[in-house]
Amino acid sequence: MTKHTVTITDNKTGKSIECPVHEGTYGPPVIDTKTLYSGLGMFTLDPGFLTTASCRSKITFLDGEKGILLHRGYPIEQLAEHSTYLEVCYLLLYGELPTRRQYEEFEAQVKFRSNVHERVNHMYAGYLYDAHPMSIMVGVMAALSSYYHEALDLNDPADRDLTAKRVIAKMPTLAAQCYKFAIGHPFVYPNNSLGYVENFLNMMFSHPMSTYTPDPVAVRALDVLLILHADHEQNASTSTVRLSGSAEANPFACIAAGMVSLWGRAHGGANEAVIHMLNEIKTPDNIPKFIARAKDKKDTFRLMGFGHRVYKNFDPRSRVIRKVCYDLLERLPNKVDRALFDTALKLEDIALKDEYFIERKLYPNVDFYSGIILKALGIPLSMFTVIFALGRSVGWIAQWLELMEDPDFKIGRPRQLYNGAEKRDYVPFNQRS
Ligand code: SDX
Repeated sequence: MTKHTVTITDNKTGKSIECPVHEGTYGPPVIDTKTLYSGLGMFTLDPGFLTTASCRSKITFLDGEKGILLHRGYPIEQLAEHSTYLEVCYLLLYGELPTRRQYEEFEAQVKFRSNVHERVNHMYAGYLYDAHPMSIMVGVMAALSSYYHEALDLNDPADRDLTAKRVIAKMPTLAAQCYKFAIGHPFVYPNNSLGYVENFLNMMFSHPMSTYTPDPVAVRALDVLLILHADHEQNASTSTVRLSGSAEANPFACIAAGMVSLWGRAHGGANEAVIHMLNEIKTPDNIPKFIARAKDKKDTFRLMGFGHRVYKNFDPRSRVIRKVCYDLLERLPNKVDRALFDTALKLEDIALKDEYFIERKLYPNVDFYSGIILKALGIPLSMFTVIFALGRSVGWIAQWLELMEDPDFKIGRPRQLYNGAEKRDYVPFNQRS
């Protein structure tokens, strides 16, 4: 909705242009700068897109100052308390909470697509036994593009919807296969009599030689964790999926590209890095030394799980996760690494009282406590980012759907400020000094 404009004047030439300002439901209004080049012959420069809106979106809203996160208008705290991950998948894809019949129909369609082609199972053999599971996930997800390519019509809403269901359905199967490959266990097929999260834990931990029944407390804890990772506006990995999707690339390959970005330790790789850091800290009395390192500009060490590009207050997800940690401590006391949790709590307490962190508004983010839960669920450290990718896969594919339906759809093509060499002629070898 355009209410007013801003005038941008080039003081060098005196030329001005009127740029429309668009307002959304929440959040800062945006200046529409698409006439900047034609009007003033200029681009904008915004490294890391600190203040650049790349699209209009109805899926998620977050307020970094107030620590608010909404999915289709519903607060994350309420979804974490009352919903399930599969229901949040429906909400993110279709914009409304499902009726019971809609939910059952959606669940049945997802279950029906949870298996992968037998030939995918042979892909793992090409990886070294100790390959990082994210390196495998990127490969097998990209490989799905070879199974769903020719028949996939990106212009057909039904094909796009089917793709979304396939991604949501197959991610748990691929993730569990990565784990089974790493430990040399036989793959476990999806079991459609189980719920989404139960089925994932069954594929992860059941074995032909023994019976396995997922603990309902663990199922609920992981369900909440997946909800908290489902979507988060235009973060690095989602923007990667959108940019790849804008070129009309195969959606499975776009999801693989999102995984590549998420794997970075500044992004989704941080949950694994937090546990490495807490293990390195060992006991609370070592914390001051690590806080000093985090503040030392000469030291590349950063407090993993702290800080966020947008949240300059508590990440609302980290508050929920910390509560789940306490719940798990009560209900599965022998599963939670109490020493690790105590070190994390103490680290948070000390950092939040330190001027450096206060001044820079650095608070615990979603990754700070998630590892404590994953460890309690018996999920190995190397699989932590895979779990993040599992949760985020619905956000990626929901944002991809929104991109493909966007009336403003066009290929993403940022510009640059060139500050390289001026034009010059080629110099043959024998004339170079
Ligand atoms: C996720 O975008 C999303 O939404 C991401 C995510 C999602 O759901 O998709 O929320 C998931 O990626 C969470 C973030 C996980 N990453 C980490 O926990 C890694 C540690 N955090 C930092 O790397 C950092 O905080 C970032 C990358 C998360 C954010 O960096 P910014 O916003 O670009 O901030 P910056 O690097 O410009 O830092 C501003 C200042 C700097 O100091 P000064 O130059 O002002 O003196 O804060 C300092 C930084 O050095 N700083 C930190 C710090 N984070 C920022 N100092 C020590 N430890 C840290 N963790």
